[in-house]
Amino acid sequence: MHSSTQIIPETGVIPRHVAVIMDGNGRWAKARGLPRVAGHKKGVDSVRALVRACGRRGIQFLTLFAFSSENWRRPPDEVSWLMTLFMSLLEREIRNLHRNKVRLRIVGDLTAFEPKLQQLIQNAQALTSTNQGLNLTIAANYGGRWDILQAVRGMLASKPELARQPQLIGEADLSSFLTMADAPEPDLFIRTGGEQRISNFLLWHLAYTELYFTDTLWPDFDEEAFACALHSYRARERRFGRTSEQLRVES
Ligand code: IPE
Ligand code: IPE
Ligand code: MG
Repeated sequence: MHSSTQIIPETGVIPRHVAVIMDGNGRWAKARGLPRVAGHKKGVDSVRALVRACGRRGIQFLTLFAFSSENWRRPPDEVSWLMTLFMSLLEREIRNLHRNKVRLRIVGDLTAFEPKLQQLIQNAQALTSTNQGLNLTIAANYGGRWDILQAVRGMLASKPELARQPQLIGEADLSSFLTMADAPEPDLFIRTGGEQRISNFLLWHLAYTELYFTDTLWPDFDEEAFACALHSYRARERRFGRTSEQLRVES
């Protein structure tokens, strides 16, 4: 991982990695007098369109928050509907993703999912693991705190001596055990649906990410809305602790 606090990452006009909290499905449905699940279903079209747009624009990594570790608190019928939707998407869409050279990864505590879903996830990852196109990561039963905790456990299991000498623990010792260790940190974070919070998404990785919030509800988030987010990103000055004057001298 290219850590924003250890080195100054390379940046460009096109973000290498875009991370998205897809929020507002329920409100989209409610505004139309439809059940909340109709919003989730419509939201799938926005996912397809965004995957295509990222491929076209040469974005290398796209990470989507699909289900948080806190979303189990929702009414059981909504949770089970979301699981069914996830399964049917993995079954139906995977060939298309594979054809488009997408490398699919699912991150989160997958042990909570029923065995059939876990199997589908494994198959989908195995099928697309050597693809060279867009790296698409779906965060499912994901929590940023869970990610940091499982990284601490992984690090100590592989290097037990660090527990006795914690002063030797460096950023890279821990970050290499985070779920997205092979991806650059997100350049651009997008949250749709009007809320301005992280909701336990990528806590470690967002240290220097540019944040973009829009009121647009996820099912309405189309290519034009994405272009607005990219436009906003291009106008940012990414200083990573330095001053504007230093940046001008360097460029
Ligand atoms: C986001 O939309 C999708 C998931 C969390 C699965 P919501 O379902 O949170 O929609 P709102 O926020 O209630 O409108
Ligand atoms: C965040 O949305 C999680 C996903 C989009 C998967 P929520 O709608 O669950 O977030 P809160 O509860 O409003 O913070
Ligand atoms: Mg929501």
